[in-house]
Amino acid sequence: MPTTTLTEPHQILPTPLGGTLINAVSHAEPAAFAHLPRLELSERSYADLELLATGAYSPLTGFLGEADYLSVIEHMRLQNGTPWSIPITLPVTAAEAGGLRGMVALTRHGEVVGTIDVQEQFAARKAWEAREVYRTEDAGHAGVAALYAQGEINLAGPVTLLSVPRGEFPLHHRTPAEVREVIQARGWCSVVAFQTRNPIHRAHEYLHKVALELVDGLLLHPLVGTTKGDDVPAGTRVEAYEKLLAHYYPQSRTLLSVYPAAMRYAGPREAIIHALSRRNYGATHFIVGRDHAGVGNYYGTYDAQEIFHNFTHEELGIKILRFEHTFYCQSCGQMVSPRTCPHDASHHLTLSGTKVREKLRAGEALPPEFTRPEVAEVLRKAYAEAAD
Ligand code: ADX
Repeated sequence: MPTTTLTEPHQILPTPLGGTLINAVSHAEPAAFAHLPRLELSERSYADLELLATGAYSPLTGFLGEADYLSVIEHMRLQNGTPWSIPITLPVTAAEAGGLRGMVALTRHGEVVGTIDVQEQFAARKAWEAREVYRTEDAGHAGVAALYAQGEINLAGPVTLLSVPRGEFPLHHRTPAEVREVIQARGWCSVVAFQTRNPIHRAHEYLHKVALELVDGLLLHPLVGTTKGDDVPAGTRVEAYEKLLAHYYPQSRTLLSVYPAAMRYAGPREAIIHALSRRNYGATHFIVGRDHAGVGNYYGTYDAQEIFHNFTHEELGIKILRFEHTFYCQSCGQMVSPRTCPHDASHHLTLSGTKVREKLRAGEALPPEFTRPEVAEVLRKAYAEAAD
């Protein structure tokens, strides 16, 4: 199967996974579904509905049925062999599941936002799913805790979305088709996507700029769905990204767009979904650095890079740019990694996410070698306001 389509002379966009960009946005009026049974969605399931219906999760057309659920957990592939590493399910309680079959109106805060044609109900295998997907059954893991907290029955079937929720970030909220349009309009032949759930620090910026030496455009694609309580809130992060881009990035080669998914913290398995969905948004390259999508000490530093060896480049259809741990070296006077710096750790400035949050809560300044002053100021203000 070819992985590229010629869109105009010299410009090549990757085909979506499975060959077709799914579009299940129906633009129907909510009143048309007034007669249907209703099911209220969690924030995470609403995000998944949007990702399914706009094609970010192509080739999926709906929440997974049991055969695909088992296959994804066991083999990191759909039943037909397509790479897919985390089951996208619609979990409900047994009471909610009741006898639901056929068309159901999906609601968020009581408003109809979409539909599912329920073709199957099946029991989640939570402990097994946790072990295989998250590599731990420990409820101290934020993703595992979320899995344990959800209902025990999964509803499966194709979905529709009535309209794309532009939410908190209307200027930056684009569907995969819309991101593809921007890429085409800008004439980029290659695009590197960057997943992030943190404010951009100098290490991230270094990865972007190394990548921009090799490719035409950067899709800065922060995840803005549900994150764990102590992650920096999406609104603060987006403000910081805007400041950073305005001061330090080439405007014509950068696109800030939000990625509505919830964070699962599934490390290596999540890195695969992150990469595949960015292919659907039109990216040709995807950055995977240290402990991608990790939390605590559940994953090895480079596990999220190694897991890609389970797939061929043709299957993935997006090139993975692997980066080692980067940091500032006082003696080199620049961002470096173990690949480029000869000095030992005493020359290096590294701050963990936990340390950064501690400093911010204490009202302490972040060093400019770690965070650009404009970003540090956005973070300082946000933490000061939260403390009031
Ligand atoms: S993540 O959960 O979205 O992966 P984060 O926003 O911190 O968290 O990271 C975004 C991307 O940058 C990931 O690919 C991660 O591996 C990479 N990354 C973050 N910090 C560093 C670093 N210091 N060195 C190398 N890669 C990094």
